[in-house]
Amino acid sequence: MKIITIIGTRPEIIKLSPLMPIFDKEFNHKIVHTGQHYSYCMDKIFFEELKLRKCDYTFNIISNTPASQTGDMMRNIEEVLLKEKPELVVVQGDTNSTLAGALTASKLQIKIAHIEAGCRSFDRRMPEEINRILIDHCSDYLFTPDLTAFNNLIREGINKDNIHMVGNTSTDACLRARNLLNWKGLDESLEKRNYILVTVHRQENTSPENLKSIINSLNIISKNIKIIFPVHLRTRKVLDENNIKIDENLVLTDPLGYKDFIGLLANSKFIMTDSGGIQEEAAILNVPCLVLRDNTEWEYLVKIGKTVLLGTNEEKIIEQVNYFLNNENELENMRNMKVKIKTGASKTIFSIIKDINL
Ligand code: UD1
Ligand code: UDP
Repeated sequence: MKIITIIGTRPEIIKLSPLMPIFDKEFNHKIVHTGQHYSYCMDKIFFEELKLRKCDYTFNIISNTPASQTGDMMRNIEEVLLKEKPELVVVQGDTNSTLAGALTASKLQIKIAHIEAGCRSFDRRMPEEINRILIDHCSDYLFTPDLTAFNNLIREGINKDNIHMVGNTSTDACLRARNLLNWKGLDESLEKRNYILVTVHRQENTSPENLKSIINSLNIISKNIKIIFPVHLRTRKVLDENNIKIDENLVLTDPLGYKDFIGLLANSKFIMTDSGGIQEEAAILNVPCLVLRDNTEWEYLVKIGKTVLLGTNEEKIIEQVNYFLNNENELENMRNMKVKIKTGASKTIFSIIKDINL
């Protein structure tokens, strides 16, 4: 079987890192990189660290708007699909690269497998939410991480026979990285559970006003505890262009490699983040996760008390974080809350795809 996997951003590279080598071994497999993420620290570093081979096609797309970005990717992907004629296209997640891959394959009537299908935040202001819905509804094989995602798809009328609940490929990537940690690489003086790790990059959180308000709250919290903040390049641009003031105990770094990041996460007191992938990783590593959003596609983690939705209001963030800083037992409860983790998603996906009759 000829398969093309389409990737484009940091989380897609990480989450597909356990699956792509299996495809290489077992199928006639090509990897297409849309070039959505292109800076070394958002892209190549993960290929090196996770020992991934070079992509067969990498596009160089420089677009200023999401629609032209998606359109340019589709034009490039179409050329490759027409040339390679795969029987199956595999996409992961909810980015514009994922959407471009799925839409292009569907226009050419090539079957599509969507990994991490069915996730919903029910917030249509997020570009990712629209992407998820469109991608799921043009996919033929939908691999969901959990029962919530499975049920979302059933509610939207997707044929049950096309949905496979397999767990999450990021679990395997994260568990593998846990053995390779290098958490003091950044700062020798860091003490276990004596710092907060932060990431912020969602479109909704990076308008100058919203980012200023989040940074103000971090400046105030950092008077009591050190904060390490590896800054996504979208966020870096907004910080630089708007001259946003950063206090001394709020330590900004470039985006980190996966091992360094997972190491810092595993040893932090807690994480404050608006990332999707990091919420899952925090749960796997038993690190309390305070989400800088009003909603999440990992609702079950909120329900069982593993994650807390902080929102983005400056005063509320400060108030809630101070509460956790003064109540270690609450953090300990979150750490001890057991979450059922399904491992081996990549192998399960492979064995399902292997048996598909195309
Ligand atoms: C994208 C995804 C988001 C995902 C995130 C993972 C969409 C709509 N969004 O958001 O779902 O959570 O990736 O990190 O697809 N930049 C660089 N170098 C890079 C990458 C980005 O400088 O390698 C800067 C550029 O200024 C770029 C901006 O960041 O314009 C935003 O990048 P983009 O890929 O459009 O969106 P992300 O915010 O990364
Ligand atoms: N990550 C990383 N270095 C960093 C920040 C994040 O390696 O400095 C990893 C993180 O462990 C997770 C993934 O990047 O696997 C999450 O990517 P991101 O938050 O950009 O996207 P999302 O998951 O929200 O789509």
